[in-house]
Amino acid sequence: MKVLITGGAGFIGSNFTEYMLKKYKNYRLTVFDAMTYASNPETINKFRKNKNFKFIKGDICDFKAVMNAVKGQDMIVHFAAESHVDRSISGPEAFIETNVKGTFNMLEAARLCGVKKFLHISTDEVYGSIKKGKSKEGDILDPTSPYSSSKASADLIALSYYKTFGLPVVITRSSNNFGPYQHPEKFMPLFITRAIECEQLPLYGDGKNVRNWIYVEDNCSGLDIVLHKGKNGEIYNVGGDVEEPNIKVAKCIVDALSRDMGLIKFVKDRLAHDRRYALNSSKLKKLGWKPKYKFEAAIGLTIQWYANNDKWWMGLKGKKFSKYYRSNYGKK
Ligand code: NAD
Ligand code: DAU
Repeated sequence: MKVLITGGAGFIGSNFTEYMLKKYKNYRLTVFDAMTYASNPETINKFRKNKNFKFIKGDICDFKAVMNAVKGQDMIVHFAAESHVDRSISGPEAFIETNVKGTFNMLEAARLCGVKKFLHISTDEVYGSIKKGKSKEGDILDPTSPYSSSKASADLIALSYYKTFGLPVVITRSSNNFGPYQHPEKFMPLFITRAIECEQLPLYGDGKNVRNWIYVEDNCSGLDIVLHKGKNGEIYNVGGDVEEPNIKVAKCIVDALSRDMGLIKFVKDRLAHDRRYALNSSKLKKLGWKPKYKFEAAIGLTIQWYANNDKWWMGLKGKKFSKYYRSNYGKK
């Protein structure tokens, strides 16, 4: 089986690539990634020795490059996207280009090349902020930010390719992932890496916005099930069991690293900041999916990973050596 993974040098895509290389020894995986600011070459360097792994540097907005990569592939798992909500507020255009036009290019190439499965990776943010209950796959789309709106647009175009052309599309919408290899612009790695360095932790608004956390490996096992057992034309939510307000997660990080709670600083809120996301994942559970990790254990593993891999994130922050690195390993 030949699988093309777009965005495989990013957070979830690289965790998924690792998961698949371990589980399916006879699959040949090709990562197609533009290596934007969100990626890190070190993330995928570890795969390079594996004979079942291939890397193509390419942009999903470049249709010719996309066609060349898609030819001969059996399945596509499409992660590549601009993924950070704050950036979509300060510069929305790249989100429309990559998430809408780029996804269109992927779908069109998949149709022309007769790909047998197209797994489109979407997000719980397309349902918008919800006051109570949990979002189900059939709920209306009510996205807030340019990011979530671009993702909702891409979902609709993907479904149109199933309905109109019979392209075997399946969609997953997952909740907030956390774990190794997440860019330190995102809440959890930002707070962990700043707490490691005893820097202030900028908590938006009143800190009571709620996110539905899922450990990235649990998302990967859900994606694997949808890729192999999901019904064409269907959407599957992939949500963790835990809902927490940001303030509680921030305190948990500060506590685990034995830092001072005074590091937490309330700052100006994000524009149109969605208050709460929560997913009902019973449809995926009926296919046999069960998350493996408890939140407390998984956040511990995550903190440990960032503490052990400071070289990986220091580069992404544009720093050579951190205060933490110096105090632990001496001056360089
Ligand atoms: P990420 O920002 O860590 O990685 C995105 C990857 O896509 C990067 O390697 C980047 O170089 C690549 N990329 C960006 N633009 C590209 C382009 N034009 N052509 C080719 N490659 C390009 O993102 P992530 O957090 O791993 O998210 C992956 C997918 O999952 C996205 O589609 C996102 O919307 C979705 N998602 C993420 C979360 C989450 O909590 N992180 C939750 C639900 C859904
Ligand atoms: O819900 C799934 C989505 O989760 C994905 O689709 C997105 O790609 C991913 O980035 C993430 O979006 P969020 O906006 O929820 O994640 P972020 O890490 O940016 O923020 C999480 C929460 O923390 C949110 O309520 C905003 C808050 N926050 C974030 C940052 C960066 C802060 O309080 N301070 C911060 O500095």
